[in-house]
Amino acid sequence: MCGIVGYCGPRVISDILIEGLRRLEYRGYDSAGISITDGDEFTTVKKKGKIKDLASAVPQEIDGLAGIGHTRWATHGEVTDTNAHPHTDNSGKVVIVHNGIIENYEALKSRLKQNGHRFMTQTDSEVIAHLIAELYAGDLEKALLEVLPLLKGTYGLAVMHQDEPGKIVGVRNGSPLVLGVGEDEMFLASDVTAILQYTRDAIYLNDGDLVSVTKDGYKTFDVHHNEVSKNIEQINWEINQIEKDGFPHFMEKEIFEQVESIKRAFTGRLNRDSATGHLGGLDMEPRDLLTVQRVKIIAAGTSYYASIIGAYLIERIARIPAQAELSSEVRYKNPIVEPNTLYFAVSQSGETADTLYAMRELQRKGARVLGLCNVVGSTIARESDGGVYLHSGPEIAVASTKAFTSQLTIFYVFTLILARIRHMGVEDGLDFINALEKVPSQIGELLKKTEELKTLAKKYYTYENFLFLGRGLNYAVALEGALKLKEVSYIHAEGYSAAEIKHGPIALINESTPSLFIVPDDALREKVISNMKEVKARKGRLIAFAVEGDDEVANIADDVFFVPKSHELMYPFLMVLPAQVFAYYCAIELGRNVDQPRNLAKSVTVE
Ligand code: AGP
Repeated sequence: MCGIVGYCGPRVISDILIEGLRRLEYRGYDSAGISITDGDEFTTVKKKGKIKDLASAVPQEIDGLAGIGHTRWATHGEVTDTNAHPHTDNSGKVVIVHNGIIENYEALKSRLKQNGHRFMTQTDSEVIAHLIAELYAGDLEKALLEVLPLLKGTYGLAVMHQDEPGKIVGVRNGSPLVLGVGEDEMFLASDVTAILQYTRDAIYLNDGDLVSVTKDGYKTFDVHHNEVSKNIEQINWEINQIEKDGFPHFMEKEIFEQVESIKRAFTGRLNRDSATGHLGGLDMEPRDLLTVQRVKIIAAGTSYYASIIGAYLIERIARIPAQAELSSEVRYKNPIVEPNTLYFAVSQSGETADTLYAMRELQRKGARVLGLCNVVGSTIARESDGGVYLHSGPEIAVASTKAFTSQLTIFYVFTLILARIRHMGVEDGLDFINALEKVPSQIGELLKKTEELKTLAKKYYTYENFLFLGRGLNYAVALEGALKLKEVSYIHAEGYSAAEIKHGPIALINESTPSLFIVPDDALREKVISNMKEVKARKGRLIAFAVEGDDEVANIADDVFFVPKSHELMYPFLMVLPAQVFAYYCAIELGRNVDQPRNLAKSVTVE
């Protein structure tokens, strides 16, 4: 949730750290800080607020031998200048930045206090600096390795010691850390966006890996301090992908990128000759897939909603029982892993703690878990037993948009593969491919009509409560639409099955609670129209996302937004797009920080 950056090399260190933190700000944005050593002492600047506040608190360029920085998403201790990282010990010789949670910090703190340590912050992280100081005997790597067994919890850590200037030691357990290898400079970061503009050579650390860097090179070690060699991998993202590129916000840019990102998710993965798909990363031949009797999908947030649609589609079209579950619940329910069940762990970031830990628990029980991730080299991508990348490009806005439609795309391709090796014939396979390949241009059509959604947002942004209602494949679109609105505009919104409202939520209906109905022209259309009438009868305001030419829905609704007529299975793509845009414009009207909504972080690496 927090972002870490470290640098050793000839450039102006304060510039590199602040620019890196700016790139990482989406990971956490309540406070930030940097520490730089010039060989004699550390200069530390910490500030509550955004990176721009930190930047203005840095008096001038700070040069030196090495430096570390941090952008915080508070877990323990209020958001204050003092609680911002880096933290130090009482001698001021150790500085650390930490991402994660030290669960036993209270016990460690009281023991350290008995030994005379004085604590300056309310954070869990500060104990690490004191422990290192206590165990340090001239070798920072060694001291850190002695500290690690004392810590219960998760960490991505970068540490410096005044007696070893020019060196940064990093270690990870449950929180990501990547090493960027330059010519005469080295970088450490919690993700590659911080280092992309300087180097494409990256080493992704695994849990338990320790790395020691100076400007001249790096060494990687295991937990027993044995040197180990790690592969350098190439970062294939482009710098313009992490820029706004003329858009006012990343969220809008990423919404508009969906024409291309959906295309990228299926390109090379559909085969017209055999009327099926191919997902090489699954590493499963048709004969392996034939043995699959059940599919289970674990995920959180938006990825969970995409997974609900994936499960629905797999069961309906490939005729294999499928179910999506919240990863946070799976981990602790002592899940039963049955033979012939194929699992997916779905995560844009590939770092979500709930999903990662649930995946590990399932693997411990013998499950084969495939990863469906966007971020290359992320922990879930590396630890899963095969998987597929979304190829959406970096998603920087905290509210996920393009990753959702790319996740859907992969589930559609996977469904096609499963269905074709069972009962689906060539003709139906080709129909499915044709329909999926049409989606990007239909999204393009919708994006020409964003002004209509802006007008709709201007009309509705003052309402304080919304219901989002859909059924079948579009039930989870309603959930996602409500989540988007909540996240970026802070308007309260609930997503429900349109059929469910009569079982309770209809009690909320009145003139000041609009209901946004998703009404594709599928088999459930009539039933959804009945649900709309039930709301109208109770004086509820109605917005409908419906299919071009559906006059009946247009007549019932107070406002309607039309999507192009499509293959009935493809509506989740076309219906979620206006929900994303509507949420975006409501947030703009309300003057919200669209890309970095309050209290949120892009990648949730704590439980
Ligand atoms: C989406 O808009 C959210 N910010 C959030 O729900 C997110 O989808 C969730 O935290 C899961 O993230 P992941 O896909 O990176 O695992």
